[in-house]
Amino acid sequence: MPPKILSGDIYDYPKYYDLIFGSDWREEYDFLKKVFDKHSDRPVKRLFEPACGTGRFFDKFAADGYEISGLDLNDRAVNFCNERLKRKGFPESAYVGDMTDFKVKKKFDAGFNMINSFRHLYPEAMAVKHMECMAEAVYKGGLYVMGLHLNPEDFNLDDYEVEEAWSARRGNLSVNTSMWSISYDKKTRREEIGFAYDIYTPTEHKRIEDTLTFMCYTAKQYLSLLKKVPQWELVETYDFAYDIDDPIKVNKETQDVVYVLKRV
Ligand SMILES: C[S@@+](CC[C@H](N)C(=O)[O-])C[C@H]1O[C@@H](n2cnc3c(N)ncnc32)[C@H](O)[C@@H]1O
Repeated sequence: MPPKILSGDIYDYPKYYDLIFGSDWREEYDFLKKVFDKHSDRPVKRLFEPACGTGRFFDKFAADGYEISGLDLNDRAVNFCNERLKRKGFPESAYVGDMTDFKVKKKFDAGFNMINSFRHLYPEAMAVKHMECMAEAVYKGGLYVMGLHLNPEDFNLDDYEVEEAWSARRGNLSVNTSMWSISYDKKTRREEIGFAYDIYTPTEHKRIEDTLTFMCYTAKQYLSLLKKVPQWELVETYDFAYDIDDPIKVNKETQDVVYVLKRV
């Protein structure tokens, strides 16, 4: 039987998002703690995640004694995050907000944003606003750890194969996710990506399809963005192997990067 198609915002389904993206948290989580230890000039206790979504790491950090807060545009994701925190006895510390326009009451020691959320900010001026808000939100000597996918310098949609698919399962629920590139405009640096969840339960197959818009960065363009926010200094780069002992040198072909920025 063909699936029941639900169109809409992929982030409106936090249960499926969290199953897919929240299952594999350990490496990223351990890496973040090592980054804080290695690169921060101050002890890291207070954490902030802009565009936190379902807050994949919130209960883990809270259980480890960190204070953690974050914001996201999507109220369903924020509710999901806070429900989990409440269930586990931690403060409900996620709130609805826009990462390009926010102020915090008390500053944080570090921020993190690990899987491309930053690239939702289009055009680049919005990214600059975000970096400025983050600079106000983080103490001097503190960090902002950003993971993103770069476009290679000679990127061309014709030989680009963003055809990724992966799955996750919990009990009777299984979700297959797929992503595919729809269009890329080198001039405007705008990329449209198709994104779908195929959701299987013993009685149903549903499919949710969405199109996401991403701002594109080559390595050079990311450095040029950083020049516009001198409050942030680039201190190290890693890749998605999340190996603290193996920093990388970013070149024209590099795609997956974790930038470690220090508030100066
Ligand atoms: C790929 S998810 C990442 C969620 C989370 N950071 C994680 O690692 O699982 C991207 C999130 O960015 C949020 N988002 C997009 N634009 C935003 C904005 N301007 N302000 C706050 N959140 C935003 C979406 O609602 C979505 O939850």
